[in-house]
Amino acid sequence: MLWDSTLNDNIPEWDYNRIVADESIRLQMFQHINDYGFAIISDVPTHENQIEYLAEIFGFIRQTHYGRIFDLISTPEQRILAQTAHAIRPHNDELFRNPIPGLFMMHCLQASECGGGASVLVDGFSAAKRMRSASRELFELLCQVPIPHRRFLVDEVDDVALSANWRTIELNRHGEIEAVHINERTMAPLDTEERLIEPVYRALREMLALVYAPEACVTYRLESGQAAVMDNHRVLHARTAFNGNRHIRQCHVDRDEFFSRLRTLRRRTTLVACNT
Ligand SMILES: [Fe+2]
Repeated sequence: MLWDSTLNDNIPEWDYNRIVADESIRLQMFQHINDYGFAIISDVPTHENQIEYLAEIFGFIRQTHYGRIFDLISTPEQRILAQTAHAIRPHNDELFRNPIPGLFMMHCLQASECGGGASVLVDGFSAAKRMRSASRELFELLCQVPIPHRRFLVDEVDDVALSANWRTIELNRHGEIEAVHINERTMAPLDTEERLIEPVYRALREMLALVYAPEACVTYRLESGQAAVMDNHRVLHARTAFNGNRHIRQCHVDRDEFFSRLRTLRRRTTLVACNT
């Protein structure tokens, strides 16, 4: 199911208690993530560590040098853009890792008092399809040329030198789009044949224009007690600028376990239906 800003008026919300208690509702939400790449969950308790329990519904938390959970708070000791109150443009998370984090989730403990800090979501598959229609040549470059991504913070605080290369658009063997990986803030200089440098940058610029376009963006302001879960291999996320004490906790969960649970839920639900 491809989508764009026209989805803005029609974003379903899933009730936390119902997805915990009722497997058939949980299956519907998992299927929605499979089809659309994201889900919004409401009525999540606002305990500090609730995101641990939220994540357990989907799979196993991926631990990194940031720990299990990362606090998105504007702080004077900011190391990365996420720790500021600035707007952040649409991106996939942490492409400097291998493997790339699977599901990305945010739990809002406190929304910004000023009304800012809304989450913006973009369907990477929809943008990639538009890219293929606009220029087959540039689309194929994005499917073929690995783009280097890095996070080098070699010091006493972080001490990491993470580096990985990913194609911006990945196709399966039938030529269908199966992953989109784009983040201009973590891109390192290209390491490819000289003749490809300018065309690849042109292709990246075209693709970035498509994912930054307002008509590609769904905007949803998470309120206290709401959470968003998205497939980091498809859906890009962004945020608008804010003032005040916005507090969102985020983590990543591996995708293999999520898809395993989707399949087991399908199988169990089908068996229950057959036996009644
Ligand atoms: Fe991010």
